[in-house]
Amino acid sequence: MKLNKNACATAVALALLGGAGASWAQTPAQTAAQTPASQPWMDRSLPAEQRAALVLKEMTDDEKINLLFGYFPNDFKGIKRQEAGRKQAAGYFKGIPRLGIPELHQADAGIGVASQPGPDVRERTALPSGMATAATWNPALAYQGGAMIGAEARASGFNILLAGGVNLAREPRNGRNFEYGGEDPWLAAQMVGAQIRGIQSNHIVSTIKHFAANDQETGRNHLDARLGDQAARTSDLLAFQFAIENASPGAVMCGYNRYNGDYACENDYLLNQVLKRDWGYKGWVMSDWGGTHSTVPAANRGLDQQSGWPFDHSAYFNEALKEAVENGHVPRARFDDMAKRVLWALFDKGVIDHPVAEGGAIDYAAHAKVSQADAEEGIVLLKNSKQLLPLAPGLKSIAIIGSHANVGVLSGGGSSQVYPAGGMAVPGLGPKEFPGPMVYFPSSPMKSIAARSKAQLRYADGSDVAAAAQLAASSELVIVFANQWTAEALDASLTLPDRQDALIAAVAKANPNTVVVLESGGPVLMPWLDQVGAVVEAWYPGTAGGEAIARVLSGEVDASGRLPLTFPASLEQLPRPKLDGEGLPKDSRFTVNYHEGAAVGYKWFDLKGHKPLFPFGHGLSYGSVAYSGLAARADGGKLTVTFKVSNDGQRTVKDVPQVYVSPANAAKWEAPKRLAAFEKVELKPGESRTVSLSVDPRLLAVFDTADKRWKIGAGDYRVQLAKSAADIRHTVSVRLPARSLDVRGK
Ligand code: BGC
Repeated sequence: MKLNKNACATAVALALLGGAGASWAQTPAQTAAQTPASQPWMDRSLPAEQRAALVLKEMTDDEKINLLFGYFPNDFKGIKRQEAGRKQAAGYFKGIPRLGIPELHQADAGIGVASQPGPDVRERTALPSGMATAATWNPALAYQGGAMIGAEARASGFNILLAGGVNLAREPRNGRNFEYGGEDPWLAAQMVGAQIRGIQSNHIVSTIKHFAANDQETGRNHLDARLGDQAARTSDLLAFQFAIENASPGAVMCGYNRYNGDYACENDYLLNQVLKRDWGYKGWVMSDWGGTHSTVPAANRGLDQQSGWPFDHSAYFNEALKEAVENGHVPRARFDDMAKRVLWALFDKGVIDHPVAEGGAIDYAAHAKVSQADAEEGIVLLKNSKQLLPLAPGLKSIAIIGSHANVGVLSGGGSSQVYPAGGMAVPGLGPKEFPGPMVYFPSSPMKSIAARSKAQLRYADGSDVAAAAQLAASSELVIVFANQWTAEALDASLTLPDRQDALIAAVAKANPNTVVVLESGGPVLMPWLDQVGAVVEAWYPGTAGGEAIARVLSGEVDASGRLPLTFPASLEQLPRPKLDGEGLPKDSRFTVNYHEGAAVGYKWFDLKGHKPLFPFGHGLSYGSVAYSGLAARADGGKLTVTFKVSNDGQRTVKDVPQVYVSPANAAKWEAPKRLAAFEKVELKPGESRTVSLSVDPRLLAVFDTADKRWKIGAGDYRVQLAKSAADIRHTVSVRLPARSLDVRGK
């Protein structure tokens, strides 16, 4: 690709400021005066709703099908690729050129603009994993990452991005947790919502996915997730509801799984009742690739678009849909509604007014900086008992062990896979078929540490435990890199693979000044925890991950990530010590009973009194921050929480004060407390800041399933200011009046 640095830098700067839209207009805006009389829907001064209705009237049934039936534009299952689709893309729709409705080009984009593996793999910038971004607790960074992805999508000719994974990390072994935003609905929605807003600031559509309770990969195509209405509305569904309100994604992707009986992509409760009726969602529902199972039930129960043919058994939304409409099995009004929803989103998000084109420039260096900023704030310092970090400037020798830290950093696998600029640091790893390969990005932590330290650095790959231990014994300090590759379609074990536990234990025995840096999709068990001096969770840190890790280890930046999910001490602490479906053949049908209801993650640990290995919200800093002056006010029932955060240490810090709430009488709640608000604050030495946060009333309420209202019971509520879910620093009480809000929280 040609590099046009100046043009791109401006575009990035604009994108990061949230004003990217104007810079991307490739066809001038059409005012009413310029709009051809034959195409009144091109008048940008009209509301999207009206424009969609105007163009819909002109469309033939075949043209509607062009918007509702999508192709996987690669050779697949013996079917040749649709030549008009972008190479190595995830999806393609024909559009309606005669009416000015463009082709739709889809790419996965949870972490960066992904590329399907194959001969024409495209290189782009990878953000850290979604989990790492969630660990920043900094929505502004998530927005910037999204804006960067959107810019690369435009440059690559994509106008629909398959991003916005907000499935709760109900199951810490879920192989796709790395794509998502953690275990708490409020945190996940703030972070994922901000990323979607960033993407859409480029006048392209982002999805939110996978609706709903697509919370494990084992048996994902057919498992039946069982979850009651009340529990769902305050957990998995609430994450979607908050994020949709926050970001207005143009499309929702329904999941592979079944939900209380029916497939999520033909589930009247999820699609018609909750999403479209209760939440008033105006965009469209697209199926996951291979997630459509019928024509008539799917269309009538709320699916608007079939994706990725030939992933499904049948071309359900092609000729069969037309025929079902002609025969009256799918009402014509519903058929029009399906097309109109797509059109509404295309107008509303600017896809039609700002067409994309292939072949734009990507400023990889500038975009790597966006990724690095995200990674740096997402890295979590879990333990630092011997003050091994930040690395002492006087160190003479450091052993670097394991995980190809001499050349790169790991990424998660599957459809979200980004192929990095500079190629693969370690080719030939992982499965040959999907979700492989295992990709290491060429950003070496070792090289970046070397650039910051006068110590002699020596590397051992860790395959020979005795040799690694020997190197450790002859070094002043050891940094062991440990990895857990997680990927779509597979669930993970919480035990580090490839006998890395034994490696770490042997190294720590040889030299207790051992720092462990984890590159993992989510939590892992740490049988060696007491033997090592420090543990850093670096997740999958993205394109510039090596540099980010080195900057945190060296203390150039504070360690300011906080866990977006609980790290359990053992499998026995989980709601399901054994993963449902484990060991069953691939397409088995089984039920996953989410008996913990809305008590996901820390809520379950609170309820059961389990002590986790590391709690939700945990993360150490190199500095020192104090909280004071916690006050809670209820004005007309609206809760506002105020407190002071002070840097009483010697260095600039970034801290994440967290507010948890609970009724004094917790009887009706699913768990003792809920995260209600948070803020990331940066403070210079001696600086203080007063923070004032308002709490969404739904986080104080119980969802009444009979009359579909959120109800806050009158009485006293505890408001807690905390460093983590298990480290409460201050508590005050506030009296709230009884309140009842509609299903949208109004
Ligand atoms: C994944 C989706 C993805 C789609 C298209 C599916 O396997 O579940 O998240 O967007 O593929 O690549």
